[in-house]
Amino acid sequence: MKNLIIENVKIVTPLGSESSKGDKMRDIYVEPEGCIIITGGTISYAGPMKGKPAVRPDEHYDTIDAKGNVALPGFVDSHTHLIFGGFRPDEFEWRLKGDSYMSIMERGGGIQSTVNATRDTSKEELKKKAQWFIDRMSEMGVTTVEAKSGYGLDSETEIKMLDAISELAGEPDQKVELIATFLGAHAVPKEYSGRTAEYVDLIINEMLPKVKGKAKCCDVFCEKNVFEVEDSRRLLEAAAAMGYSLKLHADEIITLGGAELSAELGALSADHLLHVSDEGVRRMAEAGVVATLLPLTAFALKEPFAPARKFIDAGAAVALATDLNPGSCFSGSIPLTIALACIYMGMSIEETITALTLNGAAALGMADKIGSLEAGKRGDVVILGCDNYHIIPYYVGMNCVQTTIYDGKIVARNK
Ligand code: NIG
Ligand code: FE
Repeated sequence: MKNLIIENVKIVTPLGSESSKGDKMRDIYVEPEGCIIITGGTISYAGPMKGKPAVRPDEHYDTIDAKGNVALPGFVDSHTHLIFGGFRPDEFEWRLKGDSYMSIMERGGGIQSTVNATRDTSKEELKKKAQWFIDRMSEMGVTTVEAKSGYGLDSETEIKMLDAISELAGEPDQKVELIATFLGAHAVPKEYSGRTAEYVDLIINEMLPKVKGKAKCCDVFCEKNVFEVEDSRRLLEAAAAMGYSLKLHADEIITLGGAELSAELGALSADHLLHVSDEGVRRMAEAGVVATLLPLTAFALKEPFAPARKFIDAGAAVALATDLNPGSCFSGSIPLTIALACIYMGMSIEETITALTLNGAAALGMADKIGSLEAGKRGDVVILGCDNYHIIPYYVGMNCVQTTIYDGKIVARNK
């Protein structure tokens, strides 16, 4: 049944059907005595208990009495590398001893190591592994997950990854919506070592046409000694011409100009941005590109956090996501993401909520469908086991989600 009434709940949500920018990120609608009605999976009412409309008596609705609880929109994790073979705990230990992420990558470990493992893993095995993470994410209130390819770096394996995502998305009892992104330009594979331009040609001429229809967005790891700004521009322009929406891993390790490129090309988002230039911040704000910040990665790599305040003060839309992946950030923790954003990035809890809901949706081009508790949006709701949303970051890394509702169905319930 996709008909549900949540009564006596404190509604806390951003509003709108596009990204929330700058100061507006703080504007959160709060209804202390609220009611949410979900009809056929879609929110038909979200407002005061007093004004709630009658529902059709011939249709069955389940009712939840959520007195003493907060309701937020379902969280949108708009940047993950959910599908991968193997694990890389050895690299984690090397980094603890002082190795850098890029030095491990340059000597053939890092992404290439997961590429080797993913090529050797069956689609069924990849799906099983990913479903375990989806189940955990759902317990933390996530209802939409972006999932990237990028551990194949050949047509066959990239397609295997994207097919795994689409088959998981189609599971009848799936707990989240999955949005696929093609990341064939995640690294230059060992077969093309020293021949980056030829590999970009292969992506443009062979992979992009083959995966069309299997992925909504095209992403690139725009980084020194990986795909430089010129390689990235050539690839993304070709992808845009084929109808893909654009995303970039930008200015993660050094200041390279990925942010500026995202603005020039009108990307949906540029992500990471730990080392973004002031000019990059300004241009992204001007172009309306969502700045997707990934504090768990900065934390795990012991890098400085991205300048969230600079983006917000410049009038940009900031989203937060986990970057779950087997290398730089082996975590999909929403509670820790929120705590880091509030403690280290100077974001208020209101801005953090907007970043994980409406702006995460905007980073996927979906702000008209999800990301807020408003009539017409999908019935994705998180019910917290507390009545005060201000205390979410106080629960550092601990999960205060009680119930997750996706598409009008209860998909997770924590005791
Ligand atoms: O977003 N920087 C590139 N990609 C991922 C890491 C992937 C990996 O290490 O396997 C990231 O940090
Ligand atoms: Fe990433």
